[in-house]
Amino acid sequence: MADINQNFLKLQAGYLFPEIGRRVAAFQAKHPDAPIIKLGIGDVTKPLAPAIVEAMHQAVDEMGAEAHGYGPENGYAFLTDAIREHDYKARGVEIAPDEIFVSDGSKQDSGNIQEIFGTGCQVSVTDPSYPVYVDTNVMAGRTGDADEEGRYEGIVYLPASEENGFMPNPPDQRVDMAYLCSPNNPTGAVATRENLRQWVKWARSNDAILIFDAAYDAFIQNPDLPRSIFEIDGARECAIEMRSFSKRAGFTGTRCAYTVIPKEVSGRAADGERVSLNALWGRRHATKFNSVPYVIQKAAAAVFSPDGAAQTAAQVADYMQNAKLIREGLGAAGFSVFGGEHAPYIWMRTPNDLSSWDFFDQLLERAHVVGTPGSGFGPSGEGYFRISAFNSQENVEDAIERIRNGFGE
Ligand code: MLT
Repeated sequence: MADINQNFLKLQAGYLFPEIGRRVAAFQAKHPDAPIIKLGIGDVTKPLAPAIVEAMHQAVDEMGAEAHGYGPENGYAFLTDAIREHDYKARGVEIAPDEIFVSDGSKQDSGNIQEIFGTGCQVSVTDPSYPVYVDTNVMAGRTGDADEEGRYEGIVYLPASEENGFMPNPPDQRVDMAYLCSPNNPTGAVATRENLRQWVKWARSNDAILIFDAAYDAFIQNPDLPRSIFEIDGARECAIEMRSFSKRAGFTGTRCAYTVIPKEVSGRAADGERVSLNALWGRRHATKFNSVPYVIQKAAAAVFSPDGAAQTAAQVADYMQNAKLIREGLGAAGFSVFGGEHAPYIWMRTPNDLSSWDFFDQLLERAHVVGTPGSGFGPSGEGYFRISAFNSQENVEDAIERIRNGFGE
């Protein structure tokens, strides 16, 4: 009989969002007529923008007229050039074509990136954080068991609290790989230029790698805030960045993202030699991945066309209007709310000192509203709750009303 990867048995509950789905399905089965509003998983609710659909139709016709087989491993130049131009050059950042790796999602990339690092590497996460960072390192054997609060031995947790504006400082101990997400999932906080400078300075002086998740960059409202870690001097020597079309352009079901690894960023081999992480990830990508479908890459490139850019910006603006309504509506009703200004997530303190999951259950029961328990993102999320702005304005307004009636002062 084959031995299993024993590390999987260290994982605490099931993955957060399927667990929420199970609870909601059980509730719905008992109360088939309950009009549930879902503000849990950050999944888009708007259809693909017309310019994107048109590009997909055209690409399908092209594929029907002529064979388009395996694409270039790192993505078609029509897409990587558009990314370089619009996501980077427009903000004064130069990224070379072979520093971009187009993929089918930042979830996969942020989960898989740890494969190119030694299993002995020490990892830090801001706490709470996107569960993929921790869970994939557990699976890889970089941790011991979890304690009662769910903290895995061997991971350095950096509490994101009201006191530090949910943007913790770098660790004051040595770690090899640090995950950082801005705008932040789940807290909705955003890093300032000064925050990122501190992280880059820390990473360079500790010879650490920053894994920067910028999946929500399009939701930043203030043009002076950094959208990329590479806007910070020195980041090319220490950072890897992930970006996604999922939330910015409604690609959660379409799947397209990319990771940037500058050629300067390196790790250490057993013999002390510096090895380029760009080359290692390129090797991994070419071995385990056969590129994003042509039709999807054409669709992603259309996000940068004048029409695509305007249409997707309008979608983001609608979601951000929802975020404003939630933040202001719940704030006015006496809830302690955070985030939602540069991110599609509102982070709130649970009312009446309820635990995160107790509030989840009561909210579903009393208001038929689904959110995400803060503790699902890490021990410091206990006592907090995440509300997503991805839904129609009508549903969001209805949900706010129901939360106020169910729990307001
Ligand atoms: C979330 O709700 O945290 C996200 O939708 C999860 C994801 O992007 O995979």
